[in-house]
Amino acid sequence: MARVNGKVAIVTGAASGIGQASAKRLAQEGATVVLTDIQAEAGERVAREIGPQATFQVQDVTREDAWQALFAATLRRHGRFDILANVAGVPGSGDRQDPERCSLEEWRKINSVNLEGVFLGCKHAIPAMRQSGGGAIVNVSSLAAMIATPPMAAYGAGKAGVCQLTKSVALHCARRGYRIRCNSIHPGIIDTPMGQTAMSWAGADLTAGRERYRKMVPLGVLGEPDDIAWTLVFLASDEAKFITGAEFVVDGGMSIY
Ligand SMILES: NC(=O)c1ccc[n+]([C@@H]2O[C@H](COP(=O)([O-])OP(=O)(O)OC[C@H]3O[C@@H](n4cnc5c(N)ncnc54)[C@H](O)[C@@H]3O)[C@@H](O)[C@H]2O)c1
Repeated sequence: MARVNGKVAIVTGAASGIGQASAKRLAQEGATVVLTDIQAEAGERVAREIGPQATFQVQDVTREDAWQALFAATLRRHGRFDILANVAGVPGSGDRQDPERCSLEEWRKINSVNLEGVFLGCKHAIPAMRQSGGGAIVNVSSLAAMIATPPMAAYGAGKAGVCQLTKSVALHCARRGYRIRCNSIHPGIIDTPMGQTAMSWAGADLTAGRERYRKMVPLGVLGEPDDIAWTLVFLASDEAKFITGAEFVVDGGMSIY
């Protein structure tokens, strides 16, 4: 019950889905959690549900000045900063992302959040964590980083970028003796608002879509937000002190056949 006791965590995308579950599980395991998102009302509600150890801050991860302000405020308020969970993401519009039809505007819109947002978070987390003697960064990538995703080319490319960036951050920090670890999680299909968008793309009925995706998962069930959240808690905790630059696939076996 105290796997991240005394640590201060920032979770982006915490108003919904995987980010919400991650913030709740980190708090349950003893962390003080700063939730951020562009959805203010939902974010505030999640923070209230967690209780006094949680606060919510509106943040657009694409804005560098917002990252700088967030870390400065967190250090000022809590005196330390130990865990960054980069969870915020957007799926983009599936049917407009294939390599022939994806507009430059769509490509940039998706990757300003999914890749640049993660880059900015890592960049400014490093000096803030160093002030606290080290820490752990967990970047939520996707299974789409590892396989061809023709209808979601922009999304897949950005998530592959997150995977690569994670390793560069990990080695950069390790070589300098910063005591900062950085790992990526690669979810398969998870039953969140974004997962539901994917399952009902092209006008598919959501119930039928869920069933279609469920059948693709060898374990025979869709992933739940907590399946990712618990992996994130592990990677953020000292239980994972010898793990850095690693890819954690959490997909019910979807990628093994
Ligand atoms: N659900 C899945 O099947 C699945 C699979 C693989 C990877 N992922 C990844 O997991 C992460 C979480 O996805 P989810 O399924 O919980 O989706 P979700 O839509 O439930 O939550 C995403 C959150 O990110 C926030 N967000 C979007 N743009 C933002 C911005 N510019 N700044 C700050 N916050 C922003 C949204 O407001 C939302 O609250 C994403 O990075 C996603 O790509 C999800």
